[in-house]
Amino acid sequence: MKTVVYPGTFDPITNGHIDLVERACKLFDNVIVSIAKSEKKGPLFSLNERIELASTALSHLDNVEVVGFDYLLVNFARDRQATAILRGLRAVSDFEYEFQLANMNRALAQEAETIFLTPSEQLSYISSSLVREIASLGGNISPFVHPAVAKALRKKFAT
Ligand code: COA
Repeated sequence: MKTVVYPGTFDPITNGHIDLVERACKLFDNVIVSIAKSEKKGPLFSLNERIELASTALSHLDNVEVVGFDYLLVNFARDRQATAILRGLRAVSDFEYEFQLANMNRALAQEAETIFLTPSEQLSYISSSLVREIASLGGNISPFVHPAVAKALRKKFAT
């Protein structure tokens, strides 16, 4: 059984994330979407809300598990006996930070292998932060997120 963990804050999950998970599902037996509590980032959605939204958005895939975690990623990956850690690369600008993260994770745990996938190019400009900002300003976010996420964002920013 080949398992991959896909960590992130997913505040909230976007169509770009979904695209990446769909790709990973074809490559691995088991994909664990691992939602970091990321308290220091002051996320818009609570960990439970982010888990619920990601579970809904990924319910069409049967080899996906959505879980929250609140400790070192390499320890989490080891606990789940993961073969690899997955991260998405949308643009060259993502590369520097991802390179640092992958190397730091390897320094912490030699067996931690990071693999990268790129989303479909028409989704490569989507980011959770832009989606949050557009929603906060009353813009239409439905092209970028699952309908359940769009509804949750509208509710968050309803005045
Ligand atoms: N408020 C809310 N959300 C924020 C934020 C803020 N102030 N700042 C960033 N974010 C969100 C954004 O939505 C952004 O998503 P986007 O790029 O789609 O817009 C996302 O966080 C970007 O943060 P980033 O740190 O680049 O990646 P990530 O959150 O997707 O994943 C982890 C980072 C979870 C993989 C990494 O923090 C981790 O491994 N944490 C576990 C603890 C650990 O092991 N740390 C040591 C790593 S070496």
